[in-house]
Amino acid sequence: MSDVGLTVAVCGAGAMGLGIAQVAAQAGHPVIVFDPFAAALQRGRELFATNVTKDGVRGRLREPAEAVIERVVWTDVVDGLASAGLVIEAIVEDKAVKSALFDTIEAVVADTAMLMSNTSSLSVTELAAGRRVPGRFGGMHFFNPAPVMKLVEVVAGASTDSAVADRIVTLATAWGKVAVPVRDVPGFIVNRVARPYYAEGFRAWGENVAAPEAIDALLRGAGFRMGPLELADMIGHDVNYAVARSVYDAYFGQTQFVPQPAQSALVAAGWYGRKVGQGVYTYDGTNLTAPEPMAAPTASLIVAGHALDAGFTRLAGSASNGDVPDGMVDVDGILITSVDGRMAATLAEELGRPVGVIDWFGEQATAIGVSGSNPDAVRAAASLASRAGLPIHAVADRPGHVVLRTLAQLANAAGAAVRDQVANADGVDLAMRYGANYPFGPLAWAKEFGHARLRIVLNRIASGTGDGIYAASEYFRRTQ
Ligand code: NAI
Repeated sequence: MSDVGLTVAVCGAGAMGLGIAQVAAQAGHPVIVFDPFAAALQRGRELFATNVTKDGVRGRLREPAEAVIERVVWTDVVDGLASAGLVIEAIVEDKAVKSALFDTIEAVVADTAMLMSNTSSLSVTELAAGRRVPGRFGGMHFFNPAPVMKLVEVVAGASTDSAVADRIVTLATAWGKVAVPVRDVPGFIVNRVARPYYAEGFRAWGENVAAPEAIDALLRGAGFRMGPLELADMIGHDVNYAVARSVYDAYFGQTQFVPQPAQSALVAAGWYGRKVGQGVYTYDGTNLTAPEPMAAPTASLIVAGHALDAGFTRLAGSASNGDVPDGMVDVDGILITSVDGRMAATLAEELGRPVGVIDWFGEQATAIGVSGSNPDAVRAAASLASRAGLPIHAVADRPGHVVLRTLAQLANAAGAAVRDQVANADGVDLAMRYGANYPFGPLAWAKEFGHARLRIVLNRIASGTGDGIYAASEYFRRTQ
């Protein structure tokens, strides 16, 4: 069945409602926007016209802005929704208020109309309970700003008809979105799998592992558009911490979702981030302070070891093999290795020599972290790292250091989501790329890194920290 002529109603003329209305109108649907607050409706109507006009000027529309704007009608009475074949609710995140609205909507729309909620944190199954026709009810979770962000998580609750979920997937795809079917679990995919990105950033900062600028620069160096701390500053710690808490509480405190004290302290202090001028960083209306890379001593004699991974080999060069353990290079008598989940201090103890560690995203890194079992080892690691000509940041010696620990734990969360059948592996990766702008899917990264190797890294971090949240998910135990 083609849904081209389907009338799409959007409830709530706020940030999300306006974006969703724009997506549907751009796709050619007649659109109705409902908001019972006349002032909000009027403000929304004006903002919608402004947004669409701007997008027209930027060349983002396939037709004149007026054509999109004219496709939308605005109403502050629920009876105005009678002709809708699909209703997408984007009002306040409150279960009682949403349920009350759906009660009134059910009384005016046809029984064949599909009812979707854009909720981020409420259970779709719970919202469907008490509906007259629960099978037509589901979740359609857009990301902000909806016209730009490509992901839509299509949430099937326990009572959602599979034909309805399929139809929504087809429709969202026709709207140019990446529609990923997802099971109704707290946080769905993105807000669940993304937790470690923030948690690891705040943990590293809270443990004083490196300056915040360095933590952010290192994750940008792994391809992320923004580091975890600057990103949370932008989202707002009140919002981000509320999501972290709600996911953690909804999983009854499963420790893998545990929020970080460094973040709750910011919230308690009212340091919500960029919007109040103070978060992890201080904002004075300009940009962040630029990270200050450490000055690396000039490179000294390098002796390559055996079995180095490709990026490390490139860094080390192909000097003759010396008396060094596999995977390591010798810099002036100090052994340097690429991050592998173990502390430099542990390796130094085992090998009876100082050890430096290079913490990085391998060959594709655009920033490099260095650590070591003593200050000379840090310097030696920096001298080797300097051969890449990239900014270098010192990080404290800890299992998995910063970059690898974050990537490994993100992949671990993604694997656990597949294990829990929240979505399949492709769905999880697509969701993280298009809903969180990740440069790659965490599971695609895990595959390239090697599941067996990742399992070892995670279990080393788990045993090194004594923290079971890092134990490798069964997903990596089963799959190769
Ligand atoms: P918002 O506060 O910008 O807009 C909410 C709108 O709903 C306001 O215009 C308000 O007047 C209206 N409203 C309140 N009660 C209403 C009712 N009973 N009937 C109809 N309209 C009513 O909120 P925002 O950010 O647009 O969020 C809306 C929903 O989308 C929430 O469920 C939120 O969790 C979800 N969401 C938000 C995202 C975000 O980044 N802001 C991302 C994805 C989902």
